[in-house]
Amino acid sequence: MKKVSVSTLANKKEAGKKISMLTAYDYPTAKLIDQAEIDIALVGDSLGMVLLGYENTLKVTLDDILHHTKAVARGLKKAFLVADMPFASYKMGDIKETVKGAARLVQLGGAEGVKLEGGREIIDEVRAIIKAGIPVMGHLGLTPQSVKHFGGFKVQAKEEEAAKTLLEDAKILEEAGVFSLVLECIPAPLAKKVSQSLSIPVIGIGAGKGCDGQVLVNQDLLGVSNDFKPRFVRRYANLNEEMLDAFKRYREDVEQGNFPNEEESFL
Ligand code: KIV
Repeated sequence: MKKVSVSTLANKKEAGKKISMLTAYDYPTAKLIDQAEIDIALVGDSLGMVLLGYENTLKVTLDDILHHTKAVARGLKKAFLVADMPFASYKMGDIKETVKGAARLVQLGGAEGVKLEGGREIIDEVRAIIKAGIPVMGHLGLTPQSVKHFGGFKVQAKEEEAAKTLLEDAKILEEAGVFSLVLECIPAPLAKKVSQSLSIPVIGIGAGKGCDGQVLVNQDLLGVSNDFKPRFVRRYANLNEEMLDAFKRYREDVEQGNFPNEEESFL
């Protein structure tokens, strides 16, 4: 597989080929993403919930994202690397600071693009980042940074008016120059309509199969946590059970004096 670029992704949509995207927060996962020939690695602010134990993504800082982006960048050679702009890095009304933050993720972190949640209300920020030469990915629907506003993690744009607004926002983002768009937790027919209405690749999560590609949080796909499984997640492994079993067997071996044995010791 060749290095994935913005034009690779555009060509895939044009050719009707589906795009795969997965979150990554560390070096070993990044290497596996490349080996598995996943198109896009996302250092998502979901890391606040799946790695850091926050109840939502609002506490994640630009420095958190930067730290993990550096690790992922060291492991990636082929997949396109997108880093999330966390909540407080672009929703405070200071566009200069927003562009500086995006530039830090690219210049220091090694990101090739950044993702921002929102539509028309953040369009000046989106335009300014693109003007600075940084590819931007949009994100509409259930945008987790607005979880307080939505009153929880719920399916969005179910009503006709909200669906119309979402489609308009998608077009506004496309016109502003975003290279791709994530749609999260919206009805499948609406996601399909948005994907068909835009010429940029649309990547869905909980948005049905009519999108140009799919994204999942890798910890969800791997079943690392047993706490909560959203309906749209397909588990490809059950690491929670495997890790727990390994940890228990290790403890038992230590307690019973079975670890280390002679081969595992320097005699
Ligand atoms: O933060 C994240 O992991 C995301 C994906 C769910 C798209 O934004």
